Amino acid sequence: MKKVLVIGSGGREHAIIDAICKSRWVSQVFAAPGNAGMVKLATCVDIRETEIDKLVDFAMQNEIDLTIVGPEVSLALGIVNAFLNNNLCIFGPTKEAAIIESSKEYAKNLMMKYNIPTATYKVFTVFEEAFSYIKQNKFPIVLKYDGLAAGKGVIIAYTLKEAEQALRSMLLEEHFGKGSVIVEEFLEGEEFSFMCLCNHEQVYPLEMAQDHKRAYDNDQGPNTGGMGAYSPVPFLSSSDKEYALNSIMIPTAKALVQEKRPFCGILYGGLIKTKTGIKVIEFNCRFGDPETEVVLPRLRSDLYEVIMSVLHQKKPVLEWEDFSTIGIVLASKGYPEQYKKGYVIHGADQNHIYHMGTTLDEQGQYLTAGGRVLFVVEKGSTLEEANHKALQMIESIHCENLFHRTDIGKRILKK
Ligand code: AMP
Ligand code: GLY
Repeated sequence: MKKVLVIGSGGREHAIIDAICKSRWVSQVFAAPGNAGMVKLATCVDIRETEIDKLVDFAMQNEIDLTIVGPEVSLALGIVNAFLNNNLCIFGPTKEAAIIESSKEYAKNLMMKYNIPTATYKVFTVFEEAFSYIKQNKFPIVLKYDGLAAGKGVIIAYTLKEAEQALRSMLLEEHFGKGSVIVEEFLEGEEFSFMCLCNHEQVYPLEMAQDHKRAYDNDQGPNTGGMGAYSPVPFLSSSDKEYALNSIMIPTAKALVQEKRPFCGILYGGLIKTKTGIKVIEFNCRFGDPETEVVLPRLRSDLYEVIMSVLHQKKPVLEWEDFSTIGIVLASKGYPEQYKKGYVIHGADQNHIYHMGTTLDEQGQYLTAGGRVLFVVEKGSTLEEANHKALQMIESIHCENLFHRTDIGKRILKK
């Protein structure tokens, strides 16, 4: 029997652990650092996702058979390089391949070079140059800080004033650190998330999901790491899916091989269906959060077997349940900006809940411990049914400092 280590501490990792625990091969699961919601399924180890040397030592000492990496920060720091140097089995891209997410400029240049459809763009490091470029362009316009900003470094500016303010904060005040800004054409359409298992040129698609990035109902408020998601995605035809796979994901995997940065792990396409075709908004080098929490519950196949097949360059068996899933984030009031932690949550210890940011106090009560706190996932024979059940489930969770969106999937249901 096999031992698996999952790196990370959010809802995504909770969902990975939930799926991996169902494997017929796996007897023991560890999470580093894990969270309060996982303790029934996994042994939480007090090592942070950035402590690469300690994670290597832990995996060696405990004879871990497979390590699965959740967060991009560990990948960008080279956790995969370090594990491979020590002959440890790990699923995720090397630091060199993770650049597809860690540098937006690299990703954009790669797409240009290999004709992968994406928004037109220009990169700036000097405020005045960016500002004069923006003045000549039409609005809305998209400004992206280049670097890891956990989904929050993107501003869609509708007016020159908004654009100026964002540029100032990114280039003059260095709000996120020293970096560059990509100014990009605004694309209009429905976004969706396409996660593919990838090993060099081999690419195997997972089921599609749609995330909801804005903080409040009707897509109002600031961009967040994601406030809810559902799977499958009804507005995608089979030819859309073929296009996304054959004209975007496979060419990108091949391009990374060409560039001597072969990718192994989850290649995540943040795609958008526009009037002029499907285009790339961004790539991530890891499982999406919260998309993973709605996609993995639909996987009928054994996740351990799937990952090991991909690592051995064999085609995995990927079978999916027919039901739909919808998941809704319960977030701390104030998220994605300032928020307080430490509020007691009642009803967090139920099935269908993945913990995103919780901790246990001495009395064994769950406390809020992050911006995104819980993720409630429900299944249904239709998206409507799943949505209804998820909203009902939320009624049984009580905490004075949480809010959630009530319209996850609804825009699509109305169409
Ligand atoms: P990113 O971090 O690049 O995924 O951007 C976060 C979010 O900003 C995306 O999910 C989109 O909703 C929005 N966004 C980013 N780029 C564009 C674009 N070129 N056009 C329209 N919306 C965008
Ligand atoms: N849900 C978006 C992401 O994982 O980046």
